[in-house]
Amino acid sequence: MNDLLIIGGEVVDRQGRRRADVHVADGRIVAVGPPDEVSPAGGATTLDATGCLVTPGFVDLHTHLREPGREEAETIETGSRAAAKGGYTCVVAMPNTDPTQDTVSVIEFVRRQGELAGLCDVRPSGSITVGQAGTQLTPFAELAAAGVRIFTDDGFGVQDPLLMRRALEYASDIRVDGRPIVLAQHCEVSRLTEGAVMHEGHCCSAFGLPGWPSIAEELMVFRDIELVRLTGAPLHVLHLSTARSVELVRAAKADGLPVTAEATPHHISLTDERLAGYSPIFRVNPPLRTMDDVEAVRAGLADGTIDAIATDHAPHTAETKERPLDQAPPGMLGLETALGVSLASLAMPVEDVVAAMTWRPAAIAGVDDVHGRPVAAGEPANLCVFDPDERWHVQPGELASRSRNTPYVDVELRGRVRHTVLAGSPTVVDGSPTR
Ligand code: DOR
Repeated sequence: MNDLLIIGGEVVDRQGRRRADVHVADGRIVAVGPPDEVSPAGGATTLDATGCLVTPGFVDLHTHLREPGREEAETIETGSRAAAKGGYTCVVAMPNTDPTQDTVSVIEFVRRQGELAGLCDVRPSGSITVGQAGTQLTPFAELAAAGVRIFTDDGFGVQDPLLMRRALEYASDIRVDGRPIVLAQHCEVSRLTEGAVMHEGHCCSAFGLPGWPSIAEELMVFRDIELVRLTGAPLHVLHLSTARSVELVRAAKADGLPVTAEATPHHISLTDERLAGYSPIFRVNPPLRTMDDVEAVRAGLADGTIDAIATDHAPHTAETKERPLDQAPPGMLGLETALGVSLASLAMPVEDVVAAMTWRPAAIAGVDDVHGRPVAAGEPANLCVFDPDERWHVQPGELASRSRNTPYVDVELRGRVRHTVLAGSPTVVDGSPTR
């Protein structure tokens, strides 16, 4: 593998921000510093980082790669390429595949396909219940031994409180490399959302559409925080979307409970008013909420209540997304626009956005031995180089994802990935995937 030299940028990592070039060889960072101190003896491939920040590669806690089972919407290869284009070096693959990621063989298949694609470090999650049916726990210990750190029934919440209590109790006994596994909950009391297509509020009444009330999320956030208080097991709250959910997580953290949370780019940038045209592109679960909710989620990210920005990248084919709103599946693409949407939507310092996309999610996913590391000599070279000021519009035809369901075609984004480096090898150069 050729040496790499990333020149002219400013490094941003947990240790702060400084002007520095970066020399990479054999998968690791060899030197970081002023140009005269960072000069490989032989030849090196040069990546220009002028006007850019050089950060750890992004880590997504919430990616739907669709393979196995729905390869017409995405494959592990196309999703990994989309991830690399978005600056990601690691994604946690959600388990709502077909078959479900509830056995070692499916987990191994997903990991192996990720390795073969070689575009991103794909870490499969495991489901909490067999087939995500909500009735019987999966063999956590066996799946953890196969490397699973995050267990979730994402797409569904675990409805039965007794089963969720048992899941947390069971999880609290399991360690991978000395660390507990994490249960990640999709908070939705499904009895309250039957038939719902958008947020329940003023807009859904005006548009004549069935509503998904905020309380359906908040009840489960509340229940699970109380179960964490009882069991002591860690919980991660997925795609938190309402102001009250943010308050509940803030209070849980103030009480010292092991609760973490994520928010998606769409819940900090879009509101339920977007459903005015009845376009299925804006149908997502949990739904787009009100501006008050958007502002509360942004504030939660700014004060650290919400640990991470996670995409909930949910590819769907044009055929399914062109169905009428009530028949179209919920979900939107996220990987290739997450940075641009986040920087365009959040007033917080870029360093804090980097934290929410790198070392904080890396710690939650238990991948912080190789991702979200300081940009320093000796560390694994998983890096992202992005221009924080570039303004751009997404062109659906240029997406690396196999699907096209992005809600951002008419939105100006700010911040664009220029290069991504995975284990010392560039996966994206000047915005284009290398393979
Ligand atoms: O909008 C969503 N789509 N939310 C989810 O929780 C699941 C996802 C999907 O798999 O399409």
